[in-house]
Amino acid sequence: MRHEDLIKQMTAKQKVAFLTGKNEWESREYPQFGIPGLFFSDGPSGVRKQEGAGDHLGLNPSVPATCFPSPSTLANSWEEQLEEKVGEALGREAVLQNIHVLLAPGLNIKRNPLCGRNFEYFSEDPYLSGKMAAAAIRGIQKNGVGACAKHFAVNSQEERRMALNAKLDEKTLRELYLTGFEIAVEEGHPQAVMSAYNEINGIYANENEFLLTQILRKEWGFDGFVVTDWGGGNDFTEGVKSGSTLQMPGCGLDSARELLQALEDGKITEEQIDERVDELLDAALTIPKKVAEKRQQLENPVKVYSENHKIAEEAAEKSAVLLKNEDAILPLKQDRKIAIIGDFAFEPRYQGAGSSCVRAIGVETIVDLADKMGLPIVGAARGYQRNGKEDKKREKEALELAEQADIVLYFLGLAESLETEGKDRKDINIAQNQIQLLHELARKNPNIVAVLSTGSMVNTWWKGDCKAILLDGLAGEAGAGAVWKLLTGECNPSGKLTETWLRSYEDTPSYPDYPAKERDLVYKEGIFVGYRYFDKNQIPVSYPFGYGLSYTTFAYRDLRTDENGIRLYVKNTGPREGSEIVQMYISLPESRIVRPEKELKGFYKVHLLPGEEKEVAIPFDDKTFRFFCERCGKWKTEKGTYQILVGASSQDIRLKSSVFVEGTRTETEESEDLRQDKQNSLKKEDKKGNSAKRILLNRNDPLSSMIYARNPVARLIAHGMKRKIDRAEKEGQPVDLNTLFRYNMPFRAIAKMTEGMVSMKMVDSMLKMINGHFCSGLCSLVKEFFRNQKANKAYEKELKQNI
Ligand code: BGC
Repeated sequence: MRHEDLIKQMTAKQKVAFLTGKNEWESREYPQFGIPGLFFSDGPSGVRKQEGAGDHLGLNPSVPATCFPSPSTLANSWEEQLEEKVGEALGREAVLQNIHVLLAPGLNIKRNPLCGRNFEYFSEDPYLSGKMAAAAIRGIQKNGVGACAKHFAVNSQEERRMALNAKLDEKTLRELYLTGFEIAVEEGHPQAVMSAYNEINGIYANENEFLLTQILRKEWGFDGFVVTDWGGGNDFTEGVKSGSTLQMPGCGLDSARELLQALEDGKITEEQIDERVDELLDAALTIPKKVAEKRQQLENPVKVYSENHKIAEEAAEKSAVLLKNEDAILPLKQDRKIAIIGDFAFEPRYQGAGSSCVRAIGVETIVDLADKMGLPIVGAARGYQRNGKEDKKREKEALELAEQADIVLYFLGLAESLETEGKDRKDINIAQNQIQLLHELARKNPNIVAVLSTGSMVNTWWKGDCKAILLDGLAGEAGAGAVWKLLTGECNPSGKLTETWLRSYEDTPSYPDYPAKERDLVYKEGIFVGYRYFDKNQIPVSYPFGYGLSYTTFAYRDLRTDENGIRLYVKNTGPREGSEIVQMYISLPESRIVRPEKELKGFYKVHLLPGEEKEVAIPFDDKTFRFFCERCGKWKTEKGTYQILVGASSQDIRLKSSVFVEGTRTETEESEDLRQDKQNSLKKEDKKGNSAKRILLNRNDPLSSMIYARNPVARLIAHGMKRKIDRAEKEGQPVDLNTLFRYNMPFRAIAKMTEGMVSMKMVDSMLKMINGHFCSGLCSLVKEFFRNQKANKAYEKELKQNI
């Protein structure tokens, strides 16, 4: 242990209380021992520091900060250096705002396109997710601030997110859902990891010893601390025993008393508690000191913010993806008359909603910057209402404008209400009124250039109406400046998609069961997510993984492979300077195990002047040829001749070679059968699990399940919440995140998120009332309320007096 002497001086009461938060954003401090508290803040796209009344959903205002492109957008750059630079910029602002741990990056796998939080994640591919996450972590931590990789693990649905059980086999878990975290931990060395809300195969992520101790600490060598997601604690003792260090946010001292009791009862040892205390102490004794030192070195804040705005713009430029460019309509020619149409040109959609939502400092808009472009712009019109409602007046104005121009820049995308934490999308469509207007515009003017603002994949069946499509994603506060540079050719688009864009949502493998409406969420598709599935089943897609165009062209040649990796030459064969993302996939056609057709195992972004050629090298690493053997519980390598596929996208393979690899595998195809059996049994179990309706509710049921409650008032409350959510959705309004959070939150979270007001026994009393024993429940609620208040006061006093 690193801080044994200090730990020896602390009382048991102080130690266990230390492992629970002090309030919404801070851990406890013990001035008598010189132990400071840690200040936490979200999040991946910018620093969201809340002062005053804290909430974790982005409801109350936060300190103004730079808003960078969303992780989903930034990932399209495939540029680790850029990700690191943005991380560093985030870290600098965190230092300015005296934040110790930034709750970022999030790197869950985009299993299904409807997940409301996909905009916060990098990719459907674990290798790419891991590399980008590691870069973000390195950047953030350069400033002494701790990074926190989240949500560990298998967190892919927002509905019922705190009351879901992800069921999957170990091969899928390891190969798809953990590999990104493994890379992030090994190459980024985050100070913290946040456990996910959900259960994994029946055990909460936060109480999952296999995950938190065996894999994270022992196998990957993680030496930081694990923090619960906000309100994600369940059984505190189990959590601490399993490797969870800190329960956030402030939950009073009820959990601490529970742990003390467990210690007394011999359910946990003092050594186990000390281990966790040591982990948190290490962070508390080092991070605030480093942040304070950095703060002294930082120049004036104005300079930091203005530099960060430039970094946000650079990030947006390098992350945009050119999806289509017929007749080389882009870049725009100086003499063509231009009409700007679309509500998003006036009010950009530049970030997602929820805990990552930043109070951005310098949001630019397309129309504000238009005058500076020196282009013959004939006018700008909003064209549609972003809430989906029909607006004939706006449409007419837009259509008239389109007729006066040579080219229409049409800004479309997803409304704010569609990409938010706590809620999944219902489909992958863009609002019908935006598409209807597009059709009509295309009839008036065939030269439509669409600029698409979305943090997740959308259906593009309407692409025939556009000559060009530029995906700017959720580009952050400086997105508009970047878009202008890309449209005019001052910058050459170089991003590529990090998720497959589908023709139809029904093509998604998890489509039949998503979102799970009850506890079990079965990962029936196993490792076949994204391109791994579409390739294997030869399903045509709209735009494949890794796809993106440029204003120039690139030629690949002379692929050489040895046991260390590959080398090849890439030449810019077009008229403009540009960057190409070279992707390396591996494939083993003769494989005897369950394996995707190909898997991304390396990439490199190379910048080239017109006519320039460079040699690109992509190394193999310990993850290139491995697979997880369930039968022996180990990573193994299959012996065989692997194909090395090098391309400009997962479906545009330019060069091939092969390499023979001496395997480590001794078993037969048995493992394949074994896995298939498991999958089948999961399917059967799923049917059983999801058909039962519970009447008696328990601590771990979400509040939404009160619609099945015995108590009619409880049923009324649940229906009321549901109506509120549905109404907002129908009207195209952003849903009230508080209601949404409560609706999906389990009862136990009431005790975990109320800073000591409610104890777990009070929650049980509430449940008694809900389960039909109203009077006895109410009596015990009142009794427990006073008992809790008294116990909290006494405990607080003892903490200060070192008793
Ligand atoms: C989110 C986390 C976030 C935390 C604190 C939770 O609801 O899942 O990603 O860091 O709140 O805001």
